Amino acid sequence: MSFYLLAGFIAISAVWVALRLRNGRGIKYIRGPPSPSLLFGHEAALFRQEEAASLEIGWMKEYGSTWRTRGVFGADVLMTVDPKAIQHVFQKSGYNYTKKTSQNFMAYLIAGPGIATMLGEDHQRHRKIMHPAFSAPQLRSFLPLFQRIAGKLSEKWKEELVATGELDLMINKWLSRATLDVIGEAAFDYDYNALDGGGRSTLSKAYENLFKDIEYRPSYARILFRAAWDYIPMPLLKLIRFLPVNPFTRLRNAKSLFGEYGKQILREQGPDVDAERKVSSKDVMSILIKANSSADAKTRLDDEELISEMATLTVAGHDTTAATLSFALWELARHPEYQERMRQEIRAARAKVAARGGSEFTTEDLDSLTLSVNAIKETLRFHPIATGLPRVALKDDVIPLSRPIVSTTGETISEIPVKAGQVFYASFAGYQRLPELWGENVDKWNPDRFLRIETAKQPASVGVFANLLTFSAGLRGCIGWRFSVIEMQAFLGELLEGFQFHLPKEKVEIQKATAGFGIAPIVRGKPELGAALPLRISLAQ
Ligand code: HEM
Ligand SMILES: *[C@@H]1O[C@H](CO)[C@@H](O)[C@H](O)[C@H]1NC(C)=O
Ligand SMILES: *[C@@H]1O[C@H](CO)[C@@H](O)[C@H](O)[C@H]1NC(C)=O
Repeated sequence: MSFYLLAGFIAISAVWVALRLRNGRGIKYIRGPPSPSLLFGHEAALFRQEEAASLEIGWMKEYGSTWRTRGVFGADVLMTVDPKAIQHVFQKSGYNYTKKTSQNFMAYLIAGPGIATMLGEDHQRHRKIMHPAFSAPQLRSFLPLFQRIAGKLSEKWKEELVATGELDLMINKWLSRATLDVIGEAAFDYDYNALDGGGRSTLSKAYENLFKDIEYRPSYARILFRAAWDYIPMPLLKLIRFLPVNPFTRLRNAKSLFGEYGKQILREQGPDVDAERKVSSKDVMSILIKANSSADAKTRLDDEELISEMATLTVAGHDTTAATLSFALWELARHPEYQERMRQEIRAARAKVAARGGSEFTTEDLDSLTLSVNAIKETLRFHPIATGLPRVALKDDVIPLSRPIVSTTGETISEIPVKAGQVFYASFAGYQRLPELWGENVDKWNPDRFLRIETAKQPASVGVFANLLTFSAGLRGCIGWRFSVIEMQAFLGELLEGFQFHLPKEKVEIQKATAGFGIAPIVRGKPELGAALPLRISLAQ
């Protein structure tokens, strides 16, 4: 840790002066909470808050839908839950608002130059090649895979339940293994062997170790060290990955393992292999390789970029879905009546499938399970894995507001001029608790609200699914949202039909901990367990 301290402080002194110089004009007339620290602003408080997003949700109640906070080194941050402002920045401004380096660079270290970390035109190139692999028909073809893995998980639980009748388990760990197996097979036809082997494949070992250091309540030194990345030129920053300390050593090892495996895939399926073999492969990588070979020269991906998509998809597509599903099952355990209604709906649909001589749900069947779909929407609303995202203005601009605010001098403001370099933060968790949009009792998990929400009354569409922002929005919105929704539908269908979910006998409190830029469930008072969500299951009657 002393290493981080040293590096952190050298970096601060270097950027402090530069910042003072460029932080002249700006958004000082916008109200907001007083800064608790000259050096950290609100940043440390935000990263270290007990319950993720509770600070933002409190500020929104106090200051209205747009307010000002402080980042590290005293930079002003424009924080908002305003639908029009968020729509402007995420959906209407192309690449004029970019990712923040301190947020993006860790992803770059893990995944390399893939779709999630590339900026501007490079990102457009990646997105174009990825697009065909995430079309609706293509994703529907993954449904049997989702059902097979969900069935396997369910078999494992049943084996154990025969002996005991009831079972206490860490639901998030099981789901994490299951979704890892799903993403491995769907993304690049790889068997992570997580459900069967407890993660004994080469890649899953490398991958698991990656996140050892991504701690709950990061130290102040680490927060500073990271924040300094925003002010270091990229070529210099890239040298960080060669640092001979963890997590960088582990990142290098994992990257080289993904690299080796990726090269093997390219040898087996790359441009030189005959077309016949390739046609039969349906995983995302095979589709990318095909898309790449038919693309014009300008939009092609090189080998390193293509291999980067493998790690990107693994990281982006696995624990996100597992954590959301875990929160859904936890809420269902806390709402047994809703759980029972959902189970009845699933069983009725199952009877129809059997009557027509089928055995598995189709995507149409799953979409007709209104109670399940609403439980997924409500869980995404109430437990957004990404509680919000920062963006940095590349150009001077004017941000429009749908909900005017009052300035420090009492003026009403309905648009905010910003300078290039202005940091913007959209609180998704806050937006998803605006009573005008989501109805009464926004602080409660209640899927039935979606029976009443009229999409016509919602703001001009924000987000990619149900006007929620949990998958972000616009040209950098989650490319895997539909994949994830179908996967969650398949899992809930299978698991609710077979099992009842209860809170554990021993009373524990579940906390939504900030973990990096996302959230993870942990048991209050026991952060040493890591991500943990204990539940008790029994066979459904
Ligand atoms: C509940 C599950 C999921 C949630 C909440 C979620 C959320 C998000 C969010 C908030 C972003 C934007 C990140 C940013 O701008 O920094 C994102 C991007 C992305 N997600 Fe997801 N995601 C989920 C599942 C998935 C799945 C299953 C996949 C892949 C199969 C996936 C692949 C991606 C990729 C590749 C990006 C980068 C897109 C780009 O930059 O163009 N995600 N996701
Ligand atoms: C990006 O900014 C430039 C310069 O301000 C502007 O001309 C352009 O229209 C913006 N792009 C989008 C998509 O808004
Ligand atoms: C993409 O296509 C080009 C041209 O066919 C090829 O040279 C390159 O190796 C391909 N990249 C991958 C990763 O297959």
